[in-house]
Amino acid sequence: MLISVLGTGYLGATHAACLAASGHDVIGVDRDPGRLAVLRSGRAPFHEAGLDELVRDGVASGRLRFTDDPADVADAEVHFLCVGTPQADDGDGADLSALWSAADALAPYLDDRALVVGKSTVPVGTAARLRDRLGARVAWNPEFLREGRAVRDTLSPDRLVLGVESDDDHRTLLLVYADLVAAGVPVIRTDLPTAELAKVSANAMLAARISTVNLLAEVCEASGADVGDLTTILGADPRIGRDFLAPGLGYGGGCLPKDTRAFVARARELGVVESAGLFDAVDRVNLRQRSRTVELARSLLPGGTGTVAVLGGAFKAESDDVRDSPALDVAVRLHRAGAAVRLHDPYAGANVRRERPELTVVDDVASACRGADLVLVLTEWPQFAALDPHEVGELVSRRTVLDARLVLDPEKWVGAGWDFRALGRSA
Ligand code: UGA
Repeated sequence: MLISVLGTGYLGATHAACLAASGHDVIGVDRDPGRLAVLRSGRAPFHEAGLDELVRDGVASGRLRFTDDPADVADAEVHFLCVGTPQADDGDGADLSALWSAADALAPYLDDRALVVGKSTVPVGTAARLRDRLGARVAWNPEFLREGRAVRDTLSPDRLVLGVESDDDHRTLLLVYADLVAAGVPVIRTDLPTAELAKVSANAMLAARISTVNLLAEVCEASGADVGDLTTILGADPRIGRDFLAPGLGYGGGCLPKDTRAFVARARELGVVESAGLFDAVDRVNLRQRSRTVELARSLLPGGTGTVAVLGGAFKAESDDVRDSPALDVAVRLHRAGAAVRLHDPYAGANVRRERPELTVVDDVASACRGADLVLVLTEWPQFAALDPHEVGELVSRRTVLDARLVLDPEKWVGAGWDFRALGRSA
């Protein structure tokens, strides 16, 4: 089947490459000439495990092509909308301008055969607006991939959600995903609003879970209870489960923060005012982790300032994405407060330099830690968890470490003579 994918960010590039890998002919459409050049050369435009190989193979086989001209996708049977829907500049709602402009650019090339399938995260009701605006068949097929595991999540998802308005559209999507259906991935057929809501609800629930565990961690810190044991005990209850119970600096990235706010904004528009306040608290608790980390870090520095080795810039491990990164936020606040920040991240260094040129970014842990008054772990990279506290201790001026992601082994660090602090653990 010939398929187009509009938007080649984390979602679109991964989706296009995975569709090509399953045997479809795919054309990715984007306005960004730099990104198109990288993709056409057979590489992924960002760090994502396994994606380089898929893009390389897809481009080499001719099954995966890229263009900036929507006219090139006029013959496609299915058009996936994968453009970004960031938080609007003037409020908490979603900015849908990229979605409307991609749809309008595609409109002249649509005929009765074509099915437009939304994958972007949107406020409930958007699919129906899109259908009326285009006068075309529209379906919604939300994507639940996580950055850092995007290829794995796309090739073996937990479920396929197909929001459709007809049996024909359902059949078309089953053909698109024939490999996954044959592999036994559960398919849930539903309507357009439920499919739209599925995505944003999942992210809001994940955000609430992280803020809940961070509230519990703060109580552990104040009471001397052990947050590690507590989450093990909670996770052993099958109704609660083990995943997404890691306390620390809180959630960031291009999805959970803005989706939770957009969900609340849309709920209020729909008249669900009182209950929606639950998620205001989720957001507040989340942002509080960043302030708490900054305050604690400053309290550990002589005179509230000094040299700080910041380990981590990405919003989470296995990604080079720094959008709404808690790590970057903390680093910038410490820099503004007068600390000499030296930041290292295994993959996100270039993005940190571009987004925050005021920060000093260094290429390795040793350069960050040499002469530091405080070592701050802000992203849960396994490389940081594996650091030898004796070796790092030889580099720093003061053996003080603050683990804001709870990845270091407290016994090892204390045993090596460090003043060890962690969010969620009492001093
Ligand atoms: C999230 C969802 O998990 C995906 O299902 C969804 O498809 C995606 O958003 C999206 O909307 O496109 P992602 O933002 O890639 O995926 O990252 P997550 O793994 O969900 O992590 C989000 C944030 O929560 C990170 O900052 C992470 O460090 C933090 N987190 C995660 C915790 O603080 N504790 C945890 O236990 C888990």
